[in-house]
Amino acid sequence: MGIESTAHTWSVGIVDFSGNVLSLVNDMFIPEKGGIHPILVREQHLNNFINVINRTLSEASISIRDIDLIAFSKSPGLGPILKIGAQVSRLLSQLLDIPIVAVNHCIAHVEIGRLMCKIEDPLTLYVSGGNTIVSAFESERYQIFGETLDIPIGNLIDSFARDVGIPHPGGPRVEQLAKKSSKYLSLPYVVKGMDLSFSGLYSAVKRLLESKDFRNNYNLNDVAHSLQETAFAMLTEVTERALAHTGKKEVLLTGGVAANKNLQEKIKYISDEHDARFEVVPVRYAGDNGAMIGWTGILRYKALGENTISDTQINPKERMDQITIPWRS
Ligand code: ATP
Ligand code: FE2
Repeated sequence: MGIESTAHTWSVGIVDFSGNVLSLVNDMFIPEKGGIHPILVREQHLNNFINVINRTLSEASISIRDIDLIAFSKSPGLGPILKIGAQVSRLLSQLLDIPIVAVNHCIAHVEIGRLMCKIEDPLTLYVSGGNTIVSAFESERYQIFGETLDIPIGNLIDSFARDVGIPHPGGPRVEQLAKKSSKYLSLPYVVKGMDLSFSGLYSAVKRLLESKDFRNNYNLNDVAHSLQETAFAMLTEVTERALAHTGKKEVLLTGGVAANKNLQEKIKYISDEHDARFEVVPVRYAGDNGAMIGWTGILRYKALGENTISDTQINPKERMDQITIPWRS
């Protein structure tokens, strides 16, 4: 049983030791307005966690006694929310007398992609509300080749969406708006070495919305299109350079923003140019989900066995490149 609890989604997945997902149930916190408030999310997760666990068990047609291993996300994420996942998992592990494994959420996004897309050694572009990371396996770790220096790409899109009255998460609606335009308005494009910065882009977009030209010379679709084009071109540039540097022959797109067709096309284009196979994680497994935690827990358990309870401390800031990956060579 994999338990995901790093941010807005409490998700439980049941996965077998061969990588078949038996069930997956998500409960997502959707703010009425504004961003994600950790205390409100914590309350929702605390109210619903048993219900979600029970639904996951009944969907898989098994009992809690059939569970052999508990895995949970211990890093990175929002402290109060990570804690619930850790506490519920420790409790279950001790009550059922079964092993427990603590998993890094970002690594789980890569591992579920490798499993679902049947690829071995990809360069990964992981884009979500909380992360923007280009990584690949090298020297025993998922090394980070590029990342955002300020806000993550999903957060940029969601903030823009919020400013124009689109409810959270705004990504899918912004994609629809952008599709209706091909008028490009110039915006700041900031790539520093292999890293990206989106905060100047966000401020510039706000200025476009506040300008007297808005609705006279251009509309919301044009702004959405220009925002996506600029941000996605930045992501594509960094991914392509990492691809050239690492020489990987597979490219994996994962995280919630991977659902975006325009971004998929751009990353596929550079993958083709480098004769690399391009794969996108199926949408059910692209965003936060308990199945990816369960599967990564199984990989770690097969390679190194369980964690001790004292190893299951949460770590809100842990990076994926701080962890060695014993199940890969
Ligand atoms: P993480 O904890 O890994 O940072 P997360 O908490 O942001 O993840 P995800 O479900 O991985 O959760 O990603 C959600 C993000 O994906 C949101 O920012 C949402 O707007 C974005 N998103 C979803 N669909 C699309 C889309 N079609 N186009 C662009 N962005 C999208
Ligand atoms: Fe995530």
